[in-house]
Amino acid sequence: MCGIFGYVGQRDDTPTLVLEGLRRLEYRGYDSWGIAVKRNGTALVEKHVGKIGQASTSLPASTIGLGHTRWATHGGITTLNAHPHLDCSGRLALIHNGIVENFAELRQALRARGHVFRSETDTEVVAHLLEDELRGAAGTREALRLATMATFRQLEGLNAIAVLDVQTSTLVAAKNGSPLVLGWGDDGVFLASDASALLEHTRRLSFLADDQLALLASDGAWLYDVRSGEELRPAIREIAWEQQDGGLAGYQHYMLKEIREQPRVLRRIAREGQAQAQTLADLVLDAHGTYLIGCGTAANAALSGKYLFSRIAARQVSFATASEFAYTEHYLNERSLVVALSQSGETIDVLETVRAARERGAYLAALVNVEGSSLYRLADCPILLGAGPERCVLATKSFTAKLAYLLLAAYAAAGRIEQGVRLVERAADEIEAFLDDPRAAQVAELAQRLYRKEHLYLIGRGPSYPLALEAALKIKEVSYIHAEGFAGGELKHGVIALIEADTPCIVFAPRDETQRAIISGAMEVKARGGCIIGLGPDAHEAFDHHVPLADVGDASVIVNAVPPQLLAYHLCLLRGYDPDKPRNLAKSVTVK
Ligand code: G6P
Repeated sequence: MCGIFGYVGQRDDTPTLVLEGLRRLEYRGYDSWGIAVKRNGTALVEKHVGKIGQASTSLPASTIGLGHTRWATHGGITTLNAHPHLDCSGRLALIHNGIVENFAELRQALRARGHVFRSETDTEVVAHLLEDELRGAAGTREALRLATMATFRQLEGLNAIAVLDVQTSTLVAAKNGSPLVLGWGDDGVFLASDASALLEHTRRLSFLADDQLALLASDGAWLYDVRSGEELRPAIREIAWEQQDGGLAGYQHYMLKEIREQPRVLRRIAREGQAQAQTLADLVLDAHGTYLIGCGTAANAALSGKYLFSRIAARQVSFATASEFAYTEHYLNERSLVVALSQSGETIDVLETVRAARERGAYLAALVNVEGSSLYRLADCPILLGAGPERCVLATKSFTAKLAYLLLAAYAAAGRIEQGVRLVERAADEIEAFLDDPRAAQVAELAQRLYRKEHLYLIGRGPSYPLALEAALKIKEVSYIHAEGFAGGELKHGVIALIEADTPCIVFAPRDETQRAIISGAMEVKARGGCIIGLGPDAHEAFDHHVPLADVGDASVIVNAVPPQLLAYHLCLLRGYDPDKPRNLAKSVTVK
């Protein structure tokens, strides 16, 4: 969702620096953007609706500035609603992530005091509120800090703000919920909502905790506790992770690049992830009740974990969508284990839920892809997926990485981790072969047949059921075709009513105990005129099209996840959309 980038220092190319920073944040999803810099004592602002694309900035040279990518919540997608927002005097340019829940009351009070609003956003109230707090105060950094603290304390909800004050040439930022990170460069200090935007400038980062405020100026940066006002020593982390993604590396889109990176990611997990998987397994074995939670793709991976632990380790683990788990946490206690899955580690529904679980005494493990993210820092036992940066909004390699860790952990819980390692390696080989041989072209041809369809159904049983959900999610997210995944057994309980002549139905048919029953389901769909696309090792007369995939035992779930990813990619291209920036979606959902 919204992205924040700021800089103050010796460099005078701040407008371009900020624009490039915003480009690094594009993957989060946004619909408008803007930049403010200080020039000759005033704040100059540039704002646009749409994507940054090849845009350059017309702002003049400056040594201090900030920028924002906006994902609209309050107020339509317009230039006026794009950030930064100015106060009445033009001294302050403010950007914001989150939702100011009490903005209506604040705005009413501010209007009554004579403030004039130019936008429909909740954000603009913060600029005017700070203007009020600064009234009569000295024009010093110290006064700015105190006024920002007083302002921030009045905001309800989970928010991160950053302000450019032209009077003191300072950036001031505070957060509660939404992420903010400081970057210590050689020629200045950076601020961003996402560490990956900073890594091309510096690897020395300080992650702000909730209720912390940072003051950034050309001579340094300082950290404070918003509640007590106390100055804090910023903890500097040297980030060693492989976060430089090397750009598109010749690919047309990140989605395809990341699909193709999966064999490498899986091999790495098989090689280097065994100790972490064993740790997770030991936690599960020790716990009285394990709950796997996540949102979106991460939820589908979590649901797969339930099946994997059951069949491989005869161990019961529960699954819940993170946003719903919050309503059924009452039974958690000190013996409970919550395993939160999240690519970004910033998904608000996950963070809120795990915070509540922790308050009930539960132990928190996390499978997370972004080192230093809020979830990573919150977890008692953070396990890094090591999938490398995932820049396409759609999750692909982080999904199969999560499956690989869960499979390894299930095998570790059963005391057979070596077997799990071999299966993950075989899955990596099979995915590589699939992506390089004529089967990949076969999937592209299938897309040709399907891209004009309005509806698409996917069915799977057992471990393939979460795959059906995930495949449907991929297709929906990127091609905007209505796709729905079902448990094969549920077919006759409703879905079959939707099957008409030529309705496409993708059937996951691995060589396991679900195969016979899922094929029966496929026959029933076919008998009603449906067009069956079978994924699995064995051909069958029920299939109008068959994509043959090797049987890799329990790791077949990993292999079978990939053809639908590729199908979604081709459907998207054929329908003329951009796979890396699907409409309305955000990579990391930081507001409720
Ligand atoms: C958003 C993204 C999804 C993602 C979900 C959870 O909805 O669009 O692709 O699966 O958030 O994200 P997380 O970072 O927690 O895995």
